[in-house]
Amino acid sequence: MPILVTGGAGYIGSHTCVELLNAGYEIIVVDNLMNSKQESLSRISEIAGKSFPFYQVDLLNEQELEKVFIENEIDAVIHFAGLKAVGESVRLPLRYYHNNITGTINLLNIMKKYDVNRMVFSSSATVYGMPERVPISEDFPLSALNPYGRTKLMIEEILTDLYKSDHKWSIALLRYFNPIGAHKSGMIGEDPNGIPNNLMPYITQVAVGKLPELSVFGNDYPTADGTGIRDYIHVVDLAKGHLKALEKVSTSNGIESYNLGTGKGYSVLEMVEAFEVATGVSVPYKIVTPRPGDAAICFADASKARKEMEWAAEKSLREMCEDSWRWQSKNPNGYDENLIQTGTGNPHSKSGDFFHVKID
Ligand code: NAD
Ligand code: UD1
Repeated sequence: MPILVTGGAGYIGSHTCVELLNAGYEIIVVDNLMNSKQESLSRISEIAGKSFPFYQVDLLNEQELEKVFIENEIDAVIHFAGLKAVGESVRLPLRYYHNNITGTINLLNIMKKYDVNRMVFSSSATVYGMPERVPISEDFPLSALNPYGRTKLMIEEILTDLYKSDHKWSIALLRYFNPIGAHKSGMIGEDPNGIPNNLMPYITQVAVGKLPELSVFGNDYPTADGTGIRDYIHVVDLAKGHLKALEKVSTSNGIESYNLGTGKGYSVLEMVEAFEVATGVSVPYKIVTPRPGDAAICFADASKARKEMEWAAEKSLREMCEDSWRWQSKNPNGYDENLIQTGTGNPHSKSGDFFHVKID
């Protein structure tokens, strides 16, 4: 039976769709394309050599969402759909609470109605707030620093209550550390709207000449070079973690959280250097004031995922940099480039009906 992937047109969702199709799963994608392009779906099809149904549906529209469950037998849901920009969430908290939380509750109500009890949820290392020490394990205290983080925390709590109310549910909460990189083909990757908030897309946009220089947020943290340390993980390793989580929720009931990280931390300046070495492209930077709310050091203890799901990140930092660069240099304007629109999209179109064509 197919796996429903919400937010499957987005950065992590698209890479997970490729891994699911490669592993022989049938998938159905639901996405309202508010932060992604339909072109990513046609590229998933191209990479995997398979097509799949796509529903351009907003999780806030319960009736449209229910049609997906009426028209398809669904085995489990991987739930990526959500808004994720921290700064925007501070400016527009109600939008974030409504989209992320109401959207999830709608989805859960419909899953319950159609007796679909397995879910893999995209949580985030942000639920650890300002961690007191590293490496961070799943039993650390949880807190939120902003509305985005609070939506993740609240959804984790909602899912925990749901399991307590009915032990039929089987749920994996995947707490991602810092996904970077792209599929080896360079056909899918991260395509942020406007100026990137996160480090790696900012670096690649400086490298490709779209932005003049990187602003390094502070060099006075208690780290070897004074810049912030994070646990960067290749998005394909992360995607593979979802397949392991799917096996887990398919073979046992319960609710469990798992850190998906490498367990290694790199500073901002180490990232700039690793990128320059891997690609031969220089990244000019300047030091600016720290970004409010940033932790100094954040990296995972990923041993629970290794023990309980037999998952571990495998790809090196060099590969992460090379793959991020391949995607950015082949697609300097993300999915927008080389596209003309040749018709109108059917909101319930199957993947064969894609209406974009590429111009060589
Ligand atoms: P993304 O924005 O690329 O993908 C999210 C997708 O969800 C987009 O395609 C968007 O159009 C869709 N979407 C949003 N709201 C929707 C709605 N109401 N109905 C239907 N579709 C909707 O983000 P991503 O980086 O792929 O992240 C996926 C998930 O992982 C998100 O929940 C995010 O919060 C979480 N996460 C991401 C990171 C990261 O660094 N990228 C880190 C931790 C957690
Ligand atoms: C950010 C989010 C976090 C989210 C995570 C993954 C904030 C405050 N936090 O965290 O909620 O879970 O992304 O999506 O936005 N940096 C620079 N210059 C830049 C960009 C980043 O120096 O232009 C530094 C940051 O200070 C940090 C590191 O690079 O030390 C990584 O930053 P980023 O990629 O934004 O990830 P997080 O800070 O982990």
